[in-house]
Amino acid sequence: MFLRAILMHYFIGASVDCANILFVSPVASPSHHIWNEVLVSGLLEKRHNITLIGHEEAKIKSINYTVLKITGMDQVYETLNINELLYNKNTPLEDLQLLWDYILAFADLDLNSNALERLLSYPKDAFDLIIFDIVCGHYFYPLIEYFGNPPIVVLSPFALPPYILDAIGSQFYSFFPIIYTTYTDQMTFWQRLENTFMNLCEYYYKWKNMKVMYELAQKRFGGDIVEFDKVERQFQILLANYDATVDFAIPLLPNIIPVGGLHTKRSSKLPNDLLKILNNSKQGVIFFSFGTNIHPSGLSPEKKKIFLNTFGKLKEIILWKYDGDDLEDVPKNVIIKKWYQQNDILGHKNVKLFITHSGGLSTREAMYHGVPVLGIPLFMDQLNNAEKMQVRKLGRRLFMRDLTEETLYESINDVLNNPIYKDNMKRTSELFRDQKETALERAVYWIEYTLRHKNLSHLSVRTRDMNIYQRENLDLFGFIFVVAAAVLILICIMLKCVYKSYTSESYNKIKSD
Ligand SMILES: *[C@@H]1O[C@H](CO)[C@@H](O)[C@H](O)[C@H]1NC(C)=O
Ligand SMILES: *[C@@H]1O[C@H](CO)[C@@H](O)[C@H](O)[C@H]1NC(C)=O
Ligand SMILES: *[C@@H]1O[C@H](CO)[C@@H](O)[C@H](O)[C@H]1NC(C)=O
Ligand SMILES: *[C@@H]1O[C@H](CO)[C@@H](O)[C@H](O)[C@H]1NC(C)=O
Repeated sequence: MFLRAILMHYFIGASVDCANILFVSPVASPSHHIWNEVLVSGLLEKRHNITLIGHEEAKIKSINYTVLKITGMDQVYETLNINELLYNKNTPLEDLQLLWDYILAFADLDLNSNALERLLSYPKDAFDLIIFDIVCGHYFYPLIEYFGNPPIVVLSPFALPPYILDAIGSQFYSFFPIIYTTYTDQMTFWQRLENTFMNLCEYYYKWKNMKVMYELAQKRFGGDIVEFDKVERQFQILLANYDATVDFAIPLLPNIIPVGGLHTKRSSKLPNDLLKILNNSKQGVIFFSFGTNIHPSGLSPEKKKIFLNTFGKLKEIILWKYDGDDLEDVPKNVIIKKWYQQNDILGHKNVKLFITHSGGLSTREAMYHGVPVLGIPLFMDQLNNAEKMQVRKLGRRLFMRDLTEETLYESINDVLNNPIYKDNMKRTSELFRDQKETALERAVYWIEYTLRHKNLSHLSVRTRDMNIYQRENLDLFGFIFVVAAAVLILICIMLKCVYKSYTSESYNKIKSD
């Protein structure tokens, strides 16, 4: 028995039973919490003990799951004017700035929270590993040092913007469009120029804001905390909400683990009243939701009217997730509710179309269930998600600024009646589901791998230790340019001398003749 136990230990790898894990989840967005809690559930199943610091309540109840909740998120949200975003007025650069404003907006709240106070009262050796959602909250980096530099797994339920790729050592801006644009992986010269410019802007914004966050963190954690770019070099792996079936293909570094659609799952049973409506709908059902951050009640009366009038012309039933009570003259085929079980609805066979803001989670749920989409993207990654769906003919994209009764009616009918969207979505769904393990299993495996081996520097590319001009070979191109220019100048000078001496010789000759 003893021998067997030892053999098991060697052959399966050192087992990792019951680790204490700190999950830093500072992104003040309900959708991040949904995604991160799916990962928590996977870790709880393996009997790990999770302590999560974030802005939302625990939805999962377990003795091994403690949430330290930062209160006051809603007050900060009110200062952000999120509903302004309903009109697609932002340029890509404004979206980029908005993201960093959003990140900084929560710094005071988070750093002065009771939740952080409680966390800092934990013993300094309390955690075997830290999971960090690095989309926001970089001012929490000093927690890593505070808890004795355990191995760090970072994750992004969001997308792969340059500031996150940069943290793990990866850049591809010649063919990977930045999320704030509507470009694809085939860019023209000018698009590539803008894309590169935007990437450089993001590096600038990262540098500028990291400095601010570092100073804020210094006030809270003390003056001698480790510099943030050094902290980032300690990250072992990145769990990325990336999947090549829908995202543009990129060469993934060994330390980037694609776990796109980690939150997707089979639908479970709907409540009976809703199930009856879905079961009995002869013409099919359209599901319409702007996700968890955006409140459609903030739309102008004209835009609301466009939606209602257009829906009134359709034969399908429309389920609209809508937060207000102000809608008048709602057509009979439109059912308004403040909340719907999105995943379970999308899994019903009678759902023919999903009208979505094209958030990262919704887009992947649509893919998982094979429902074609009409994307109405509002800002940031939604723009790029909607573009991907359109270029892959998995649905159509319509900007809010172009929304009229005609364009909406035409787009809806196109997606409903042209079989190309349904067929492509079906194939995409099959590809997406055909994996040797689920994304969640993969994520849990890699977290346990990190627990077992701790130092994963063998997965790291050395670009992480280089600065931007080394990484991009700019110094090398500069050197080649200088050498080539010097050689060229030298040749010119020589030619000139030869020419001069020749002409002066012949001149002398002519003269003497
Ligand atoms: C809770 O965690 C402890 C140790 O971390 C473990 O022994 C126990 O089995 C876990 N309980 C559950 C219900 O997962
Ligand atoms: C689980 O973590 C909590 C802190 O959040 C701690 O109080 C508790 O002792 C831990 N449980 C185990 C079994 O380690
Ligand atoms: C809806 O249809 C499914 C099968 O398609 C059936 O199992 C279920 O009982 C039906 N439910 C209602 C409420 O009609
Ligand atoms: C991890 O391993 C590498 C290579 O063996 C080593 O250079 C590095 O110092 C180690 N890092 C830590 C934090 O131990």
